[in-house]
Amino acid sequence: MGNYRNLSSFWASVSSSLKFLLLVVTLILVSGFIFILYPKTTSFPLSNNPLVSRAASPFLSSTINSSLEIEEETERHLDFHPRVVDTVPTEINAALSNPSSQILLTPAPALQSNESDVDLVTRKVPKEHSRLERLEAGLARARAAIREAAKTWNQTTDPDYIPQGPMYWKPRAFHRSYMEMEKRFKVFIYEEGEPPLFHNGPCKSIYSMEGNFIHRMEMDSQFRTRDPEKAHVFFLPFSVTMMVRFVYVSDSHDIGPIKKTIVDYIDVISTKYPFWNRSLGADHFMLSCHDWGPSSSMYVPNLYKNSIRALCNANTSEGFNPSKDTSFPEIHLRTGLMNGLIGGPSASRRPILAFFAGGMHGPIRPLLLKHWKNKDEDIQVFEYLPQGLSYEDKMRKSKFCLCPSGYEVASPRIVEAIYSGCVPVLISDHYVPPFSDVLKWKMFSVEVPVEEIPNLKKILMGISSRQYIRMQRRLIQVRRHFEVNSPPQRFDVFNMILHSIWLRRLNIHIRDS
Ligand SMILES: *[C@@H]1O[C@H](CO)[C@@H](O)[C@H](O)[C@H]1NC(C)=O
Ligand SMILES: *[C@@H]1O[C@H](CO)[C@@H](O)[C@H](O)[C@H]1NC(C)=O
Ligand SMILES: *[C@@H]1O[C@H](CO)[C@@H](O)[C@H](O)[C@H]1NC(C)=O
Ligand SMILES: *[C@@H]1O[C@H](CO)[C@@H](O)[C@H](O)[C@H]1NC(C)=O
Ligand SMILES: *[C@@H]1O[C@H](CO)[C@@H](O)[C@H](O)[C@H]1NC(C)=O
Repeated sequence: MGNYRNLSSFWASVSSSLKFLLLVVTLILVSGFIFILYPKTTSFPLSNNPLVSRAASPFLSSTINSSLEIEEETERHLDFHPRVVDTVPTEINAALSNPSSQILLTPAPALQSNESDVDLVTRKVPKEHSRLERLEAGLARARAAIREAAKTWNQTTDPDYIPQGPMYWKPRAFHRSYMEMEKRFKVFIYEEGEPPLFHNGPCKSIYSMEGNFIHRMEMDSQFRTRDPEKAHVFFLPFSVTMMVRFVYVSDSHDIGPIKKTIVDYIDVISTKYPFWNRSLGADHFMLSCHDWGPSSSMYVPNLYKNSIRALCNANTSEGFNPSKDTSFPEIHLRTGLMNGLIGGPSASRRPILAFFAGGMHGPIRPLLLKHWKNKDEDIQVFEYLPQGLSYEDKMRKSKFCLCPSGYEVASPRIVEAIYSGCVPVLISDHYVPPFSDVLKWKMFSVEVPVEEIPNLKKILMGISSRQYIRMQRRLIQVRRHFEVNSPPQRFDVFNMILHSIWLRRLNIHIRDS
């Protein structure tokens, strides 16, 4: 009773505007509580973490549209997890018993139901809380804008490029998403870790995108933030290729040293900072082009299961999950630059139907060589290109360039073909081609299932020259998404990788405990 009396005399003593403030605070906290108990969520593979849920996702493709399709948010009640329920009442109690945090709220006139004013209110609730909530509110606005853009037929405007045409699943939604990314997206890079394994990577060779991405990300001033509280995602800047070069013992077949490096690293950043534990890694990303990228991530279960993994070796049979992971292209930069690789003649000046030259490795190439090596003038398949023949020259003289998987599902030939205006023929199993959340590959490439290798010629001959010309024109239009620029340019490969990560981040919702 004493408490009640104290409370009522407390009520009597405060001014009416203060009462209003208290009421509002209570309402805010209670609605937060209800939200946590009944979050909007669709089933999410990492829902062992109650603080992360899948947001209704605004995207984009049809190959993976089950997870990235635009859909109305569906409300579903999630079983509430003890961890959330335990902590929230304590917070409410703490807030209510701490008058100073209530008095800090904005004055009454700002407390209308008005979006900009809601921002004012949340800014005044305890700091750590509001930072993340504000980030999430920004993401919610981005989702709404993307959904809106997908629905309307309005032409978007852009100073230098407007995605359009059948090569895109949803060109307007993509464009809006890209612009929302430019407006909002912030990436924090952990400083821990030393070169050569961290903050470093190859910029030449077929794994060049590891080094290229890490260096460009670290030099970036548009997306990089040095304040982790402002970050939507956290980058783990290690290079698997460098680990294979420097900590793996050649021919030992023992991935142990790589495993230890990655496990120790995650230990360090998850002990030193609160962010890994907060989401169990779901707002963290790694990037690797090496064949062993996927396996290297397996030793930290949350990295494998929850984090965004940007991989060249996007093999769905090795755990690549298109709704959370993202596929990016393997680009063979012999000199570190793309100079001289771009361009090629029109269809009429390409006398060879199809071309391939490459080593006999992986499960698919032996089949290709068995069926087509030295078999047919139109399908020029070589294991080793004879002396005096130029690989680049052959690509420029061919209508189609065969891109079978090798040791890993990705092939640097795909981008070589795109650069040289040769329509790529993807021959692979379990491969998710790069940026296929945005790009409709079948509009500018040919996908041939492995079992159809014997029918290759028939399939390619079945494509009319009108169809071919259309495909090649689209190929030249999407080329910008595969170009490596220094510094990066809008819509190029660096920005497309970032956009894929932005999309994955849009699909989750993180809450403070
Ligand atoms: C994608 O969505 C369309 C229409 O909603 C549907 O017809 C198609 O089967 C879906 N594709 C996949 C791979 O789920
Ligand atoms: C919302 O805020 C704007 C700008 O601050 C103001 O002009 C408008 O009247 C407010 N609307 C309501 C419903 O309070
Ligand atoms: C689309 O255009 C209509 C009419 O011009 C306009 O009212 C609407 O706000 C536009 N929508 C977007 C998302 O720009
Ligand atoms: C994160 O969790 C791990 C293991 O549960 C723990 O050792 C570590 O101290 C936690 N990190 C922080 C910053 O609390
Ligand atoms: C993809 O993964 C499966 C399962 O590990 C494997 O059998 C297959 O060879 C891989 N594909 C390539 C091209 O490496």
